[in-house]
Amino acid sequence: MADPALKSGPRVRPQHRNIHVSQILHYRLPLAGVVSILHRVSGALMFLFGLPFMLYLFQQSITSELSFDSYRAVVGSPLGKLVLLVFIWAYLHHFCAGIRYLLLDIHVGTDKDQAKSSAGVVLGVSLTLTALIALKLFGAF
Ligand code: HEM
Repeated sequence: MADPALKSGPRVRPQHRNIHVSQILHYRLPLAGVVSILHRVSGALMFLFGLPFMLYLFQQSITSELSFDSYRAVVGSPLGKLVLLVFIWAYLHHFCAGIRYLLLDIHVGTDKDQAKSSAGVVLGVSLTLTALIALKLFGAF
């Protein structure tokens, strides 16, 4: 007797292919994917711009009294604070996501649900700390 499972023909399986560039805006990236992209963006941001900026500020702060004044003017201006805040966010996100990846590397929290909630924790902690530092930086307390 024929196997009833074969009667209806082979099951049509869903196909998962790489998306086309035109589909990027409609693609719903999972939370872990957002954390992953931001981890790369924050790493590149710190390496390419954050390090040179910090070295520039450090040099300005120690070269002379005049350069120290210009250092103070840069870090005291609203634009300078905003730029610093971007690097602070990059560092906090990269740090929190980096800890998550190191834990995943030793097989902690690899279940789908756990990975989803740890991605939420990374975003929540890094954004909350950034917001607190922003309030401090702009003199709210
Ligand atoms: C604060 C402590 C840090 C931790 C815990 C950390 C952790 C990590 C980890 C685990 C990875 C590998 C991620 C993966 O498996 O794909 C990584 C990648 C990377 N990190 Fe860090 N990192 C830290 C600080 C930094 C700093 C200060 C910079 C730059 C100045 C930086 C730049 C990068 C870059 C460029 C990558 C490669 C990103 C990519 O191509 O996806 N990291 N980091």
